[in-house]
Amino acid sequence: MKQNETSTSAGKSPFRQTHSAAIRIWHWVTFLTITFILLTVLFASTLLNPRANGVVVQDMLKEKGAVINNDQAFSVAHIFDDKMWDLHKLLGYGLSFLLLSRIVIEFTQSKEEKVQSRMKNAINLFKQNDPNKQEWKHYLIVKWSYSLFYLLLLYMALTGLSLAFGHELGLTRPTNHLIKEIHGFGQYLMYAFIFFHLCGVIYADLGKTKGIVSGMINGDSEKL
Ligand code: HEM
Repeated sequence: MKQNETSTSAGKSPFRQTHSAAIRIWHWVTFLTITFILLTVLFASTLLNPRANGVVVQDMLKEKGAVINNDQAFSVAHIFDDKMWDLHKLLGYGLSFLLLSRIVIEFTQSKEEKVQSRMKNAINLFKQNDPNKQEWKHYLIVKWSYSLFYLLLLYMALTGLSLAFGHELGLTRPTNHLIKEIHGFGQYLMYAFIFFHLCGVIYADLGKTKGIVSGMINGDSEKL
């Protein structure tokens, strides 16, 4: 079988891979951007929830002698929630740009580091009939999960940008509402990926693939 760098070094797990500087920077900037996006969602739907805060506004004003109805209180409370969604939108543009830059970075990668070659290598390893079959299967699943993650980013970017430019695109209210539901659902897929990804790399680093996490910081080039 034609082998590439993931399987040449004797005794090395295929999970230990080199990462170019561009990929490492992209990985950590994307990680930070997604974290902040998730924080905007968390704050907008908890502390800044306009329904819960409308009641607070009404109570506060009542104490000062001003009585306002539910609609008025909701409008005031909505201002802060809107500010958080504006921040979400800005970070969303950032994430969409990161997705685009990931595609550009792919063209600059060495042959071995391209997603397609690593995917092919994972499939070839999996097809081998040797005692490491279980490990190759695991490796293939991990590679698939990364491809699905890129699709998830595309899904979030396309639905998010449609919401951000709904007016310019001439979307009707029901269409906008439907896209919001679809976009909102994507957050659960994102939580699932982040959870399994974090558990996976921590488990690997504590077990058979020591250094997998620092490899995404230092590039892991000394193994070659
Ligand atoms: C990690 C990725 C992302 C997650 C988890 C996420 C999550 C969410 C959630 C849960 C909502 C609320 C949906 C609802 O009210 O039912 C939302 C709204 C929205 N998102 Fe995202 N989003 C992400 C990425 C993006 C991107 C890339 C953009 C692109 C600009 C974007 C733009 C928007 C806009 C414009 C809204 C509507 C905000 C409003 O109500 O005014 N999002 N997002």
